[in-house]
This record gives sequence, C-alpha cells and structure tokens, in this order.
Amino acid sequence: MPRRRQHVPWTAAGSASEAEHSADDVVRGTGWVFNNRTGDQLSLAKFVATGDHETIAYLYAFGLLHDEATETMVEVGSGIGRMTASFTRMFNRVVACDLDAAFLERCRETVAQFGRADRLQTSQVVDGRTLGLPDDSADVVFSYITLQHCHRDDALALAREAVRVTRPGGHIALNFRTWVLQDLVLWPAGKLVRASWRIPRIGKVIAQRRLPARLGWQANRLSPRDVLAVVGESLEAISIFRGPKRRGFGEPGTTDRTFVGVHRSHWWLVAAIN
Ligand SMILES: C[S@@+](CC[C@H](N)C(=O)[O-])C[C@H]1O[C@@H](n2cnc3c(N)ncnc32)[C@H](O)[C@@H]1O
Repeated sequence: MPRRRQHVPWTAAGSASEAEHSADDVVRGTGWVFNNRTGDQLSLAKFVATGDHETIAYLYAFGLLHDEATETMVEVGSGIGRMTASFTRMFNRVVACDLDAAFLERCRETVAQFGRADRLQTSQVVDGRTLGLPDDSADVVFSYITLQHCHRDDALALAREAVRVTRPGGHIALNFRTWVLQDLVLWPAGKLVRASWRIPRIGKVIAQRRLPARLGWQANRLSPRDVLAVVGESLEAISIFRGPKRRGFGEPGTTDRTFVGVHRSHWWLVAAIN
C-alpha cells in the first residue's frame, strides 16, 4: 500500500521525538503535537497530568469508568502516552496502538514512569488502517484526537477495526471531527499544506513546523451518519456525544448527549458491540 500523505507529519514528529535526549525534552520540543502546548517550563509529568484529567473525565461521562481493573483497553493513537499512563492504572491490560514506532517507544517510557508497565502492550498500526490484534480481544476501544488525522478511508477502516477487536457487550469510544464555520478557511489551507508535504526535502521541514502541521494534519471531516453507515449494524445503545454549544446531529437510532469537555468541532461515538 502506498504511504499516505497524512502519515508524513506524524513520522516527522516521531523522528523528532526520537532525536531528543530525555522525555522532558520530547514534551518541550514536540508536546504541541499532542496538546498544543510547548515551552521550557513543560515536563513529562505535567504533560501526563493533562491526560490523567481527561481520561477520567471522558470515561466517567461515557459510563465506562469502573472501579476494578479487570478489563482490556485498546487505545488507538496513543502518541507518547499522555493518556496511556492513566489507562494502565485503570485497566488490567492496555494495548497502545500508533502509526509511529518512535512514539510507541516513548509511550513505553512514559508508562514505565507514570503508569503500570506490566499492564502495557504496544502495537504499531503499520498501514495506518489495520490493528494487528485478534477479534473480540478488547473490552473497550478508545481513540482521542486521532481519527481526524487519518485519510477518510483509514478513519472508517479503523472504526471497523475497533468494532472487530471489541468483544460482544464491550464498548467503543471514538472521537471524530466534523465541519465548523472556520473550515471555510481551514479546509482549503490544510489541503495546500498537505500538498506541500509531497515536495522533496522541503516537505519534511514544513511537516515539522507547528502552524502548517496543525493546518495540514486534519485530514477528514466525518459525521455520525458517515461512520454509522459503516459500523452501525454492529452497534447498540449508540450515544453521540457533542459539546453543548453545537446543535444535535439528529441521527436516528442514537441518543444525543452533551458533555462540556467536547470541543465544538468534535463528537464521540460511544456504543456497545452487539
Ligand atoms: C494528536 S495525537 C493524539 C495522541 C493521544 N491520543 C493524546 O491525546 O495525547 C494523534 C496520534 O495519532 C497517531 N496517528 C495518526 N494517524 C494514525 C493512524 N492512521 N493510525 C494510528 N495512529 C495514528 C499519531 O501518530 C499521533 O500519535
């Protein structure tokens, strides 16, 4: 399969993270890749703390927070483990999946420092669309700020994969991005940036620059209807979570839910596997 343009900024950021001396340096140098923050005052500890808050907030809102660490979670798009460390404290086994092998290496270091390394397994998503995991092997598949960065077909393929690896009665919680007014400007600008990544030599340099990378790496917009057309038949108890400032999607067969932590341009598919 040909390498997708959408892989360029992630492998560039992965290589940049590999070149840093310490995990704190990685956060200072490439932290913006994950939570838009950067700067000398940052540390891996502070970075992971942002993930700790978000994991609990989202799992609680979605009704997926359990007291006993007995379940297996698959995280699609773990990056360097901002949220993964927290997941390993909550789940018996966590499989962190990411496109980039260098991020997964850093993820293992992050979890060793702040989580439970004995509960972690990593799995590279080599083609950007297939999870190298058995059917029915997870209780929960979770993905945050990742599926918007994939080619549209890959995002839908990964949604299918999430359903495949989750056991019947298990849950998926997948975050997507949809259209907002600012996309009138952002979308064409992003297309230009993605085209620039094809330019030999210069493309890689552009991919490592914060502003163009942030414009270019949002590679799709998907609605609940788009995603449910692909995986809806395998799901039950389907909730669509949106931010309170956004109108409901009005998707038949789903429950419209709001959660204050959801960005206006984001929505979550939270459902059980039938
Ligand atoms: C913005 S980061 C989010 C990381 C993490 N979820 C967090 O919130 O800190 C997006 C991650 O998705 C990964 N990614 C991008 N495309 C992917 C794909 N097709 N398959 C798997 N991971 C992908 C990137 O390498 C990156 O680590």
